[in-house]
Amino acid sequence: MLSLTTIAAAIGLLAATGATQDVSTYVNAAVPTGVPVAGNYTGDLRPQIHFSPPKFFMNDPNGMFVDANGTWHVYYQYNPTGSTAGNQHWGHATSQDLYHWINQPIALFPPTKNTPVFSGSAVIDVNNTSGFFPNQNNGVVAITTLAHYNEDGTAGTQTQAIAYSHDGGFTFQYYNGNPVINSASSQFRDPKVIWYEDHWVAVISYAQEFVIGFFTSPDLKSWTHASNFSTYGLLGTQYECPNIVQIPVRDFKTKEKTDTKFLLTISAQPGAPLGGSITEYFPGDFNGTHFTPLDGATRLTDFAKDNYAAQYFYGNTPDGNAINLGWASNWQYAQQVPTGNREGWRSSLTLPRVNYLTYAPRIGLIMVDEVYDLSPVMDQELNSTKMGNGDVVVDYSGVDSGALYVEVNVTNINTRQIQQYTTLNITFSNPNTGEALYTGFYFGGDTPFFINRGAVKGFDNIFFTDKFSVSPSTSTSPSSSPLPDRTANWTMKAVIDRSILEVFINQGVHSATVLFFPEGEPLSQCRVAAQDMPSGTEVSVAVWGLKSAWAKYQNEQGTVLGNVTMSATNSTSSGSAGQKRHMVYEGKFSY
Ligand code: FRU
Repeated sequence: MLSLTTIAAAIGLLAATGATQDVSTYVNAAVPTGVPVAGNYTGDLRPQIHFSPPKFFMNDPNGMFVDANGTWHVYYQYNPTGSTAGNQHWGHATSQDLYHWINQPIALFPPTKNTPVFSGSAVIDVNNTSGFFPNQNNGVVAITTLAHYNEDGTAGTQTQAIAYSHDGGFTFQYYNGNPVINSASSQFRDPKVIWYEDHWVAVISYAQEFVIGFFTSPDLKSWTHASNFSTYGLLGTQYECPNIVQIPVRDFKTKEKTDTKFLLTISAQPGAPLGGSITEYFPGDFNGTHFTPLDGATRLTDFAKDNYAAQYFYGNTPDGNAINLGWASNWQYAQQVPTGNREGWRSSLTLPRVNYLTYAPRIGLIMVDEVYDLSPVMDQELNSTKMGNGDVVVDYSGVDSGALYVEVNVTNINTRQIQQYTTLNITFSNPNTGEALYTGFYFGGDTPFFINRGAVKGFDNIFFTDKFSVSPSTSTSPSSSPLPDRTANWTMKAVIDRSILEVFINQGVHSATVLFFPEGEPLSQCRVAAQDMPSGTEVSVAVWGLKSAWAKYQNEQGTVLGNVTMSATNSTSSGSAGQKRHMVYEGKFSY
């Protein structure tokens, strides 16, 4: 059994801030402080260009912000002592490009043994509205839910607390005036804060009442309830992890910005239409206190099951786009997936996704999802083919990462000549084991795009349903006439990464995140096959290998230690401290 110790401060914290620790934290002796948790990223199921925790269990992304130097910070719900949910801390990682992540020491510890730190967000208090940062403009304030549990294990209250960081988000200390928003409810959580013109705004979920509360504050310490957004969209059985973000509206073809709107997202679970967890979004207007959706529709971010609780980065993002990362799993089976027993870790984040809104005739504003610039992990082009009917087979067993980027475009399809079996199949398989992940377009019906993970055999669970499809709207196609359209342009961009597939259909109008777990050898062959296409149809295929984003951080034993130089190079106020540390670290283990 682990021996448990309560200590007055997390190690490394006092040294970092030089301040007095005014609120105690509880540190389990098995949890490292001041150094990251070490991990091994070599397992057959370990994603190579996605973030996953060094070991054990993670869920929601938290506290995401990009600092003035362009360093991206992600915190996450982390159990540092086990491969199922519980004992929530805020794990932490940083990146310069959203693909290469440096594991950092755990950032937030529970204040007491029975008070896990639930989901929340972080902001940069540039103007020192909080008063925590008299001499700096890069102070970070995290706002989180402290989930109090009673000694008998029953749920106590969920209250909102803040913690501040003088060193750009690496070490935090709890504010001694917590909670900043008190409550008598055991279901009040997941604050997400933004800056609106001259004040802070928080959206917080009254989870089981299906209410998103809007709160305002001048200083992040005192909060006033301003409005409620309640019982919209799919309810499931709880509303969780709300986000509000300013988001550009772009012309779908030129990508030019034509307007700015607000987007409210709500993650609902359990009880999603496909089972378990789902995220819905509402485009709308926001006046600083009240959110008004543009219409009464419910729209979903993904058409499969494995993208939940996504959060938007706070800070100056490139081109003002809204950039998110989601938790790539589903509460129906997140704690059972085989990565836990086979490799000692569970769950990853999605790829970084760039979001904007666009007008779709007949439908209104919809969210477009594009994968963030992949160039830092792009490797060699393995195939580039233009064809009509025919097939392309790419053996990628030689790609060390096991990760691929695949792009397929279908143009000039004469829809009046479509036949019963006019299909474009994109299949990932292993010829030795027969395991296969099927995807493709079926042009014969209402043009669905489908995914079938049922022939990948490493995980059997009643809720791990295997088939997903979407019928892409062509209302954003070159001519906005109703379906079918002669000149319809069908595209798929996909990233497959050992045990996770993400697809972006028709320039990101639809997207999906799909976990799959090969029982045997990794999938190693990609086949793109166009069948019964009308004459004149052009199919172009490009397949690229991707470089592992983790391999460069491994030592000879295959262990990724993360940022172990932190205490040596820590600085109290320099915004570039994080970057310096990365360079020192990368120098150690570069290839
Ligand atoms: C969503 C969620 C949040 C909560 C956190 C606990 O996945 O249930 O509502 O804060 O996970 O880990």
